[in-house]
Amino acid sequence: MKAVAIKGVKQFEIKDISEPKADGEKVIIEVSKTGICGSDIHYWVNGEPKGLVMGHEFAGVVVDPGDRLDLVKGDRVTALPISPCGKCEACRNGDVQFCPETWSHAVGLSLDNPGGLTSKIAVRSDMVIKVPDNIQDEEVAMVEPLAVGLHAAHLGRIAVGDDVLVIGAGIIGLASAEFAKKEGASYVAITETNKARGQKAVDLKVADEYYDATDKDLVSKLMAKTNGGFDVVIECVGNGAAVNSAISMVKPGGIVVLVGVATDAVPTYTVMAVMKELVVQGAIAYTYNEFKSCIDLISRKQVDVLKFVDDIVPLERVQEAYERLTSGTDAAVKILVDPKK
Ligand SMILES: NC(=O)c1ccc[n+]([C@@H]2O[C@H](COP(=O)([O-])OP(=O)(O)OC[C@H]3O[C@@H](n4cnc5c(N)ncnc54)[C@H](O)[C@@H]3O)[C@@H](O)[C@H]2O)c1
Ligand SMILES: [Zn+2]
Ligand SMILES: [Zn+2]
Repeated sequence: MKAVAIKGVKQFEIKDISEPKADGEKVIIEVSKTGICGSDIHYWVNGEPKGLVMGHEFAGVVVDPGDRLDLVKGDRVTALPISPCGKCEACRNGDVQFCPETWSHAVGLSLDNPGGLTSKIAVRSDMVIKVPDNIQDEEVAMVEPLAVGLHAAHLGRIAVGDDVLVIGAGIIGLASAEFAKKEGASYVAITETNKARGQKAVDLKVADEYYDATDKDLVSKLMAKTNGGFDVVIECVGNGAAVNSAISMVKPGGIVVLVGVATDAVPTYTVMAVMKELVVQGAIAYTYNEFKSCIDLISRKQVDVLKFVDDIVPLERVQEAYERLTSGTDAAVKILVDPKK
């Protein structure tokens, strides 16, 4: 079957890979939609690992239920793409995101587990979740990034009336901003280097205001706006400029949530964090319950994720979609891939 795999720096190839075989354990899923994630972009930019078939945010239909006696062929499902061991203390506490095994065999993020940029995938049966009939495939493919935003907002411990700054208006920033409001923030600002994306956050009513991250007067403008800084800053970019901006714009005693994945070391003046007695809070993925909550929130129409979907492309246009998402000027935030298109 046809699959899109990493070939080199910013380069994909379409190649033939063998179909997963039913083994009585894993669930074989026919992919209907898969999302392109900001983390996937890091792999594509680095061109490594070669041969990786990405796509860890997916919706699909059961072809073989494996050892899941409650599933039948044709059921609509998604799954947590991760591979927690299920036995360690973190797993027993429901904090699967901390398990040392979680990323080693993740679907779409490891060479031995191809993701949704192909027609059929094999997924660990205990990670598969059946989805309600009233959710479309496009919405199902958005559950995973939405859950990242929910986790970040939870870890920001946002209180009613808080001022919250979100840095970066990719899907992770937009999802975090959406939940910051839901958790009671009275003012949510977003900063972006890409004007079209920043403006879109406001147009979608996810943020109250957008500020240009490259404005040299940004810090003073936002300090004036918030009377000395934000209660919570959620950093959703993953570079030094964004991390330092977060530390500059949070108020003394505030919380900085680091969600962005920095692939290089980030130099920073830690004295600023010391003087402000900041809480620097990392946020990785989501818990199992947060992932399920996002399915419920979409199903109960509490969150509209379709507003974030800009385009749906076939496998042949994945390369072009990545170029569009990294242009720095295009307003597109989330592009889904339909392997059957
Ligand atoms: N911690 C986790 O569990 C987790 C999960 C998914 C993604 N991520 C990471 O979160 C980050 C965001 O993911 P995404 O899918 O939204 O990515 P994305 O690339 O779509 O969005 C990042 C945005 O940041 C903007 N930006 C760049 N520099 C900036 C700056 N200095 N100030 C403000 N904005 C700036 C870019 O224009 C872009 O719109 C990535 O690093 C990704 O790897 C983390
Ligand atoms: Zn993702
Ligand atoms: Zn474990």
